[in-house]
Amino acid sequence: MRLKIAVLAGDGIGPEVTHEAVSILKAVAELGGHDFTFTPALIGGVAITAHGSPLPTATLDIALDSDAVLLGAVGDNKFNALTPDKRPEAGLLQIRQALGGYANLRPSIAYKALSGSSPLRPEVTADVDILFVRELLGGLYFGAPRWWNRETNEAINTMRYTRDEVVRVARVAFELAAKRRKKVTSVDKANVLEVSQLWRATVTEVAKDYPSVTLEHQLVDSMAMHIMNIPRNFDVVLTENLFGDILSDEAGVITGSLGMLPSATIGGAVNLYEPVHGSAPDIAGTGKANPLGAILTAAMVLRHSANLEQDARAVEQAVNKVLDAGYRTADIARGSSQTVTTQEMGKLVHQALVEDIDRRQSMHAV
Ligand code: IPM
Ligand code: MN
Repeated sequence: MRLKIAVLAGDGIGPEVTHEAVSILKAVAELGGHDFTFTPALIGGVAITAHGSPLPTATLDIALDSDAVLLGAVGDNKFNALTPDKRPEAGLLQIRQALGGYANLRPSIAYKALSGSSPLRPEVTADVDILFVRELLGGLYFGAPRWWNRETNEAINTMRYTRDEVVRVARVAFELAAKRRKKVTSVDKANVLEVSQLWRATVTEVAKDYPSVTLEHQLVDSMAMHIMNIPRNFDVVLTENLFGDILSDEAGVITGSLGMLPSATIGGAVNLYEPVHGSAPDIAGTGKANPLGAILTAAMVLRHSANLEQDARAVEQAVNKVLDAGYRTADIARGSSQTVTTQEMGKLVHQALVEDIDRRQSMHAV
């Protein structure tokens, strides 16, 4: 298996967590005899500083020429005074658009070992396994017009969707649900917004092609509550861009930390992989960052770009094993757990993974 991976580590804790994710991918390649190549490139604040642009052409070329893009995080307080189009985040939005992936998969799984790390009661988080399918190329993030008139003190953003944009992302949600617990919850604000009425009507229509999957609609405000109250009720949650951004951060509460959440964006020319968390400049360089979101993102690279499902599961199981053994980064540390640094956590997962793959290979050899 050959895979060209562009590595865009970005800002803040991005490089630290991405380093651990890459070393996991290198281990899988080495043990499985795969040929993975890693090409680093700049994005976000570091790219503005070096080249005056949050997404330099060189980076875009490397990304478009790869089989998968692994991104760390973007965002730096140094650029807070800039308008949205000049900020580090603009680089991320531009690369999302250029790669063309419209379905952002954000699994939110409650690891048993972390039930004490969530402020929710263990019986509420038990067995939670939600897959958010967040539309990533439409809605308020990209709709025109958009402006801020400093003379009239008026500003506007546009939530716009076409039927086709809803159809294609809804199909991804139903396809995935058909292979899971066969339920799609579509989130909207159809009691107020026309764009949500189009969304709801379209999703209802798409659902007819998937008779084995149950569809329910939820308004985004009550959904925000249900996700905390009875998260176990949800399987695949389909949302437009901004609603998915908000709800997936909220889902970090279920897993114990935003630092645990991975994501993969599919449907475009090149898949884009990024942990859900941001650049966390306040803890950059302190060893406090949780690399598990990035490592679980590496597992998604194996699953969705390399077709190595067994290895993807092995990475996820290695994470599980390390958590079961009581190791925690600062964000998920509670009580008697042993607090480890970003690097130490990466090494522990690496070790557990190598042991598992070795065991599998020797079983085959018998
Ligand atoms: C995310 C982030 C991004 C988003 C920002 C950094 C542009 O919050 O991936 O969830 O809003 O999509
Ligand atoms: Mn977000």
